[in-house]
Amino acid sequence: MEINKFIPLASPDINQQDIDCVTEVLRSGMLVQGANVLALEKSFNEFNKSKNAIAVSNGTATLHLALLALGIGKGDEVIVPAFSYVATANVVEMVGATCVFVDIDINTFNIDVTKIEALITTKTKAIIPVHEFGLACDIETVMQIASKHKLLVIEDAACALGAMQNGKHTGTFGELGSFSLHPRKSITSGEGGVLLTANDELAKKLRQLRNHGIEMVDGKMNFVGAGLNYRMTDFQAALANSQMQRLDQVIACKQELAEVYFNEIKNEAVVLPSVPSDRNHTWQTFHILIGDNKNQSEVLAVLKENNIGANYGAQCIPATEYYKTKYQLDAAEQFPHAYRAYTKGIAIPIYEKLTKEIIKQIANSINRL
Ligand SMILES: Cc1ncc(COP(=O)(O)O)c(C=O)c1O
Repeated sequence: MEINKFIPLASPDINQQDIDCVTEVLRSGMLVQGANVLALEKSFNEFNKSKNAIAVSNGTATLHLALLALGIGKGDEVIVPAFSYVATANVVEMVGATCVFVDIDINTFNIDVTKIEALITTKTKAIIPVHEFGLACDIETVMQIASKHKLLVIEDAACALGAMQNGKHTGTFGELGSFSLHPRKSITSGEGGVLLTANDELAKKLRQLRNHGIEMVDGKMNFVGAGLNYRMTDFQAALANSQMQRLDQVIACKQELAEVYFNEIKNEAVVLPSVPSDRNHTWQTFHILIGDNKNQSEVLAVLKENNIGANYGAQCIPATEYYKTKYQLDAAEQFPHAYRAYTKGIAIPIYEKLTKEIIKQIANSINRL
């Protein structure tokens, strides 16, 4: 059967309750960071079983603040997976530190933990493992390596709210865990981000940095440091709070839809993603690899003709112009799995507004590729 209406790659689910919650804040006139931001932080702590949550303006700001709060900058090296959204590396550049790229495991699209140790030097300060597409990386091994070499870990869990390894939530393993609430994530605030940390001092520092270096002392503003304005507005937090109430359902729904893809995609040239047995996948993205002899742009064009919105999933960062030129890298040679994921990977629609029937139809189109 033909798909007769265009299915976008992603589409946020905004229900009446979300609209009412946002409207209430708009009507109150209290628009900047306030009670709803506090409530969002509380629900993040409850959901993730974390100690401190700090909500900010987006998932790039979270990573930037993380590096600033940990004092990472010029002369420091930070290990970053070669396949991620560019934001993961851009923040390292923006604090003047140096990115050291590591290839990924092609089965999970996550950092290849066996390749990390060889890259550690006396300048290495931190690792930013990414939990790509909603699947936890092997964060337990990353933590062991970090502990052995006394490195800081900032988990980029932008896409992975609800993902776990052995029952422990992503974002709660490292010094800091970072989430995005962009509309392509499981829940959204429009733009938004949240940091988690078990370290109270770090949490205090992050709260100052997000708000002009201000510390409140006896109800008065004390300007104790330099800072930024990375606050989240209260109406954005109201939207995320409302969505947070159905996060478990959203993840369960995506897991059911993913199951349909696994059962229905029978094209032998297509490689489906793997989920290690100690982890759950939250399916922020369903990312497949097309055959080596297929052209990614042509496949995307064919899917579009079939009314399916698909796209490549993330960047092979060392293959992008800035990083390739600055670091003089040959991505295809040095990071073959990241390069393959970038050039042969495609993300296909998976979100709670889609029915199993539509997913079957998308799978049929993929079978015809
Ligand atoms: C892995 C990763 N890190 C960071 C970000 C940046 O998040 P934001 O778009 O909220 O700034 C994204 C966004 O998609 C991402 O996928």
